[in-house]
Amino acid sequence: MRTLHGLFRSILLVLLKKNRRWQQRKKHLSTETRNIFLTPLAVPRWLFVCFTLLAILVLLSSFQEMDFQQIAGYLVIILGFMILIGFYLYRYARHIFESNNDLIILQLVSILVIALAKIFNEIGLSGYLIPLGMVSILMTILVDIDLAILITVLLNILIAVIYHNDMNLFAVHLLGGLVGVFSASSIRQRSDLIRSGLFISLANALGIISFMALLQHTRADIVAYNALWGIINGFFCGVLSIGFLPYFEHMFGISSNIKLLELSDFNQPLLKRLMLEAPGTYHHSLLVGNLAQTAAGAVNANPLLARVGAYYHDIGKLAKPEYFIENQDDHNRHDDLSPSMSSLIVLSHVKEGVDLASQYKLSQDIIDIIEQHHGTSLVYFFYQKALEEEAEATKEQYRYPGPKPQSREAAIILLADAVEAASRTLDDPSYAHLQELVTRIINNKFIDGQLEECDLSLKDIHTIGEQFCHVLSGMFHNRVDYPK
Ligand SMILES: [Fe+2]
Ligand SMILES: [Fe+2]
Repeated sequence: MRTLHGLFRSILLVLLKKNRRWQQRKKHLSTETRNIFLTPLAVPRWLFVCFTLLAILVLLSSFQEMDFQQIAGYLVIILGFMILIGFYLYRYARHIFESNNDLIILQLVSILVIALAKIFNEIGLSGYLIPLGMVSILMTILVDIDLAILITVLLNILIAVIYHNDMNLFAVHLLGGLVGVFSASSIRQRSDLIRSGLFISLANALGIISFMALLQHTRADIVAYNALWGIINGFFCGVLSIGFLPYFEHMFGISSNIKLLELSDFNQPLLKRLMLEAPGTYHHSLLVGNLAQTAAGAVNANPLLARVGAYYHDIGKLAKPEYFIENQDDHNRHDDLSPSMSSLIVLSHVKEGVDLASQYKLSQDIIDIIEQHHGTSLVYFFYQKALEEEAEATKEQYRYPGPKPQSREAAIILLADAVEAASRTLDDPSYAHLQELVTRIINNKFIDGQLEECDLSLKDIHTIGEQFCHVLSGMFHNRVDYPK
């Protein structure tokens, strides 16, 4: 019963994530309601295993009658492979093991390629046409390079079995698939996927020629015919990857490195607006980006996501840039406002940011970072001012709505944001003073409970602090006074 409930809730969450009206309403829910209904329950991993096993067996048996021996054979092979993958993920890549999205992507691409292999085999098409390289490329870009290598090898074995233990096919696909993985790992823009496809074509052609002509003395026309299929395969892998990638990114709210690099381009409309309309915030965001990227790299978070998330974290300030200190000139607009009105304007930049990000179709990872970059922190300055003016001001009125950071990247940006803002007030930015400031800010955020919903360990938090000091000391190091 609990399993079904978990599964139902996870499906509901995926569906609701895409609904913009729901996204608007979600912000008005209380923290308790959010915790009850919106925290995804982990779907039991054995459900993934059963579903994949069932889907692959149905696929394999739908084209031909299989006797008990064949069914048992496939069952053992597929189950064995899944146990291997499960063991690897549990032991060495726990974040993927616990991510429903990553497992669903793994399932989808595996089932797709096995279905194609079976169909091609049934209608008599060459096995060299099966786009296994597409799986290698997509898994590398969307999930993880090590898992991409493992799944390339295991799927390849299954394809060779479907094609009656064809060793040539196995060797050529292994070569093409690994070339796909390695070429996709350094991709920086979408058009590079075509280059990956061409590398796969080349690897396929060389593999087919060497295995068939040189090792088995096959007739030249048969070798040329198969090599042609291998070349077409590479081309298809590139094109299919370009076609599928945006759908996967959108469906699962994943920011692949390609997408993140596109977003980090300073010609992006939102970053351009930030540069022109809120130059102070723009500069602050770049510094937060440097801090967050360095810290993320040191604690096994995604440095690129941290940097790009930092670039966009304060875009909500575009609605009223002149009310934020970094964009103000001599006149402080808050001097004319009551503390409660000032805090309303300051607090609203989170909601404005989320709205703007949805409007400009930023990915869900970035929207989450914008929404969580202050957690439920207190706007201390206006709260203090309010206490001086009216005794009945409550802390709750002056707190950001949250939620608290849910990911390592969002937590790092929350800390980097606070540290960067405070470092500007230092008169004497010596290393000892920077260290003292960073420690004080991180401790305050920790005591305030802002880090309790992300999975940073105390050791990670300590490392993040060290990295901040290192970057800040580099930033302040060059500021020497010129002789007058
Ligand atoms: Fe902010
Ligand atoms: Fe900020």
